[in-house]
Amino acid sequence: MRDILNELEKIREKDAKYKQILGSMCTPPHKIAIEAYKMFIETNLGDYELFKGTKELEEKAIEWIANLLHAPPTYAGLLTSGGTESNIVAMWIFKLLSNKNEIVLPKQAHFSFLKASSILNLKLKVIDCKYYMKANEVKKKISSKTACVVTIAGNTNFGYIDEIEEIADICYDENIFVHVDAAFGGFVIPFISNKVFDFRAKISSICVDGHKMGMACIPCGFLILREKEWLEEIKVRSKCTHTKFQASLLGTRPGASAASAYAVMHFLGYEGYKKIVEECMNKTAYLTKLLDEKKIEYVKPVLNIVAIKLKNVERVAEELKKKGWYVGIDEENEIIRVVLMPHVEKDMINKFVNDLEEVIK
Ligand SMILES: Cc1ncc(COP(=O)(O)O)c(C=O)c1O
Repeated sequence: MRDILNELEKIREKDAKYKQILGSMCTPPHKIAIEAYKMFIETNLGDYELFKGTKELEEKAIEWIANLLHAPPTYAGLLTSGGTESNIVAMWIFKLLSNKNEIVLPKQAHFSFLKASSILNLKLKVIDCKYYMKANEVKKKISSKTACVVTIAGNTNFGYIDEIEEIADICYDENIFVHVDAAFGGFVIPFISNKVFDFRAKISSICVDGHKMGMACIPCGFLILREKEWLEEIKVRSKCTHTKFQASLLGTRPGASAASAYAVMHFLGYEGYKKIVEECMNKTAYLTKLLDEKKIEYVKPVLNIVAIKLKNVERVAEELKKKGWYVGIDEENEIIRVVLMPHVEKDMINKFVNDLEEVIK
């Protein structure tokens, strides 16, 4: 056994270390999340008749998020493997409920909607917006064929938030579902602003990831639906488990994720998350201050994501990698992306900005 573990340790050395990672929305989980995960490592939420305690943790973790997002008492939730699965399941449900297959979404939407489109045979009508999607653009694009409008609260490259409240009002009048992809922003926005991106608006569903700013272990996402019966749309009879029905995309699902999310939510609480998010926002301001000093252009951040405007982004990212940095890149918008996650320290920012200046001069 020791030989194998030694081998694994050596192989692990090939992985990038978080102290080099500036472009990811993942971060080392909170200590209590890891402890809880280890305690529930063999539990399976796909067969929750056997794991009733773990199922209770899933429900309690969902309840915590539902409260944070002002869900009505009619809500239903699902613990997922992350934003991709949540987005696919939401599209699946709204396609079934509406009997339509057209989705309106912003250009900035995450590529998981391309997967959803391929799996579910959805027609994507993309709105070509620069940083975020405006309600008047949605108004022009929707039609009687539209099943759902996808909005983003904290888009992947810029961290910008679509005009969700206004879009939800328009769609409510037209009987069109509205999904909010808050995979990143869901664990940021409530702690730094009163912006209405959640169930206080007339939205239908929202997804939030525990394994991003939620500080839980990978894999952990949540999908919350406004109406409990909507989840019934994807319910199937399961003949080979002790549990008679499943309403999820996955079969076997890690209960350890539920335990990890529950533990960190209850350990940190609203105030604990607020402190973490405020620190990330302070580091965001610190990075932009250094960029200003060096006269390096960036898109004004609204969350803890800084899109740095550059030429030859692929070359710059490659040169930065040689200096030990991993940044996100978006060739089309000519930006490199820095996500100021909890693991990003000021000394990393100092060194990164100096290296960036050297690479682009
Ligand atoms: C806005 C948004 N939605 C969805 C996702 C997909 O999340 P995951 O990689 O956890 O499936 C991401 C990932 O970066 C994201 O930024």
